Amino acid sequence: MRNRLFWIVPLLLLAALALAACPAPPPPASQGGGAQEAAATESTELNLLCTPQVQWCEGMKAEFEKKYPNITVNFVRMSSGESLTRLRNEKDNPQFDIWWGGPVDSFIAAKQEGLLQAYDSPNMANIKDPDLMKDADNYWAGVYIGSLGFATNKNFLEENPGVEPPRSWDDLLKPEFKGQLMVAHPSSSGTSYTALCTILQIKGEDAGWEFLKKYAGQVLQFTKSGAAPAKFVGQGEAAVGIVFSHDIVAEIEKGSPLVLSFPEEGTGYEIGGMGIIAGAKHLDAAKKWFDWALEPETQELGPKYEAYQAPTVKGAKASRPELLEVNLIDYDFQWCGEHKKEFVDKFTNEIAGAENLKK
Ligand code: F6P
Repeated sequence: MRNRLFWIVPLLLLAALALAACPAPPPPASQGGGAQEAAATESTELNLLCTPQVQWCEGMKAEFEKKYPNITVNFVRMSSGESLTRLRNEKDNPQFDIWWGGPVDSFIAAKQEGLLQAYDSPNMANIKDPDLMKDADNYWAGVYIGSLGFATNKNFLEENPGVEPPRSWDDLLKPEFKGQLMVAHPSSSGTSYTALCTILQIKGEDAGWEFLKKYAGQVLQFTKSGAAPAKFVGQGEAAVGIVFSHDIVAEIEKGSPLVLSFPEEGTGYEIGGMGIIAGAKHLDAAKKWFDWALEPETQELGPKYEAYQAPTVKGAKASRPELLEVNLIDYDFQWCGEHKKEFVDKFTNEIAGAENLKK
C-alpha cells in the first residue's frame, strides 16, 4: 500500500500541472463566442441601387456611413425602368444588395420576377399604413410618398398672355402646348410610368390609350430620368413638365422660374419603395440599411438633401404636407405593378419608341 501511494501522489501532481498549462477551450456561443464569430464575417461594404435624386443618394450614403463607420456604401443612381432591366440582367449574379427608392410599381414587378427577397424588418412596425405602404409578404417597404404635378415656365406664361398653367390632364392637349411638353419615357422612368398608369386609371384603358397617343404628340422630347423635365422647363427648353411635385419644389427652391399646378380631377402618386435583392452578397449590411431607412429620424433627413417627399413612418414629419393635400386618385399600385411590362411595351411599340429619348 505504501509503495502504491509513493507513485500515485507524484503522478497526480504532474497531471494537475499539465492541465494548468493547457489553453482554456473557447467559451460556448452563449458566452460570447458567437458574437466574435459574427464580427469576423460582418460585411464592410453595401452595394446600393439608388433611384431618387443623386443629392439624396449621396446624403443617405454619408449618413449611413456615419452610423456604421465599418461599412462603405457604393451606390449607382439609376431611374426605375433602367434599374429593373439591370436587375433582370444580373439575376444569376446580383451586383446590388439593396434597391432604395423609385415608385413601388417597379418593386411589385421585381417581386413577381423573383428579383427581390423578403425581409421582415422589426421596423416594419413603424409604417403608418401597412396595407398600402408595404408588401404583404415583406418583399418591399414604402420609404416615401410623392404626388405628380405640372411645372410651367413663368416666362412662357408672360410671353403668351391668356395661357394658363394646366389644371387638368386634358389641358395638356391644348394647342398652345403642342411641342411644348416634357416628360420622361416610361421605359426608363418610374415618374413617367406613374403618369401613364394614372391616365389609364382616370380615363379607363381604351380612352386612356387614345389620350396617351395625343399626349405623346404634344411632347417635345422624352427624358431618361423623371425629374429632368423640371430642370429643362426651368431653363426654358419647353413650357410644361410632368414631374413629381417634390422635384418641382426642389427646382423652385434653386430659383427656377416655375409655377406648380395639379390636375384638379385627380393626380397619381408614388410610394417610393425599398427591397433587398435576391441573392444579395452583403445581406447583413442590406438588412441594416433596410431597418435604418424605416426609422423616423432617417426619413426626416430628406430636406437636408433637397428631397421633399413625405415620410411613410409614424413619428416623422412631412416637410411639405401641402404636396399631398391635393386631389389624389385611389392609385392601384398592384394593378400598375403587375401590368408594368405590358403597358411600357405597348407605349414603346405603339406610341413612342425609346429612340425619341433626349440625348
Ligand atoms: O427625383 C426623385 C424622384 O422623383 C423620386 O421621388 C422618384 O421615386 C424617382 O425620382 C423616380 O425616378 P425616375 O422617374 O427617374 O425613375
